[in-house]
Amino acid sequence: MSNDDEEMVVTPWTVSGKIDYSRLVEEFGTQPLTEDMLERIKKHTGELHLQLRRGLFFSHRDLDWILDMYEAGRRFVLYTGRGPSGPVHIGHLVPWIFTKHLQDVFGSKLYFQMTDDEKFLIHPEFTLDTSKGFAYDNALDVIATGFDPKKTKIIMDVEDSGTLYRIAVQVAKRITFSTVKATFGFTESSNIGIIFFPAIQAVPCFLETELTGENVPCLIPAAIDQDPYWRVTRDVAPKLGYFKPAQIHCKFLPGLGKGGKMSASIPETCVFTTDPPEVAEKKIWNAFTGGKPTVEEQRKLGGDPYICPIYYYEYYLFEEDDGKLKEICERCRSGELLCGEHKMMLAEKVKKFLVEHQKKREKAKDVLDEFLFKNR
Ligand code: TYM
Repeated sequence: MSNDDEEMVVTPWTVSGKIDYSRLVEEFGTQPLTEDMLERIKKHTGELHLQLRRGLFFSHRDLDWILDMYEAGRRFVLYTGRGPSGPVHIGHLVPWIFTKHLQDVFGSKLYFQMTDDEKFLIHPEFTLDTSKGFAYDNALDVIATGFDPKKTKIIMDVEDSGTLYRIAVQVAKRITFSTVKATFGFTESSNIGIIFFPAIQAVPCFLETELTGENVPCLIPAAIDQDPYWRVTRDVAPKLGYFKPAQIHCKFLPGLGKGGKMSASIPETCVFTTDPPEVAEKKIWNAFTGGKPTVEEQRKLGGDPYICPIYYYEYYLFEEDDGKLKEICERCRSGELLCGEHKMMLAEKVKKFLVEHQKKREKAKDVLDEFLFKNR
């Protein structure tokens, strides 16, 4: 199942090959999140969030400018989103958990975009109702992440299209086909809906400014695959009198197979938030690991946590305590911790998380309406 030998491809719709994050910083023209930047963030957040401390968020554009503005007393809005094409997996939760942290620390309003239009346009078999159904289902995961209902608005693209379209046409008029073709790899056979769509994903960057008349900066936490959207949006922003949106980019949570990001297209290597806990446990049990072929070899030579999804899930999501994480790493490398035992340890944490998250998803049904943007 390894795709490590393939050439690296990172677009909003395809992520394959071995991901070289330093090369992406260079090719996409972003800035690495340096120690100095982390120190600066720490002044506002206190102890650094796990995802910053452990390098899961690794790159940015204009985050220093956002902090300049904030320190000068200006507010900024947060913007992130989801393309509703199926159930949410724990990889999607990574940027949402971090966005909630930023909302808690900076008290920012959040626009969360559900691109039911995008998913309808790229999946030949989808009807509008298919992606709308997933959008409303996935909104429960967004709410379960714990965002502040008073400061969070979930935009349903098709239903909120009136407000979005007025801004999208302004954006679209200033982007040429040759630009989106080069940025997104569109071809002669791409449908014209998806060619227009980048203008729609740009809109929430400018929404607060449009709705309030105050020019408000916007910060977008997301994985690096969404970056092509921000490149075209940043080119257009000054032409329309808006600030360029800033970004903070995360890496991909790997799937449970050998190599590759967690992706719903390989469901057996994904932990979906709606998986019954025992199903998730079974997937974890069948996962690829950095272990040796036999117990004897593992005891003698130790495992390799740095290629192991089981360790990565601890690292990125499930083991907050740096001391305990270090101990897990050392026990694995010394051969004391065997893969079976580690899988069981992780499965317990994941099951506990799923039970809690699924309760929150149920409760979210009662408050969903409060979260909807409904500016039509
Ligand atoms: P989508 O639904 O592909 O992904 C939702 C969010 O999850 C991130 N992501 C991951 N993060 C960590 N590990 C992974 N394995 C992983 N897989 C996906 C994505 O980067 C994204 O942040 N077009 C967008 C929807 C959208 C959006 C936005 C996303 C509209 N506006 C603004 C981010 C910010 C999409 O299809 O996301």
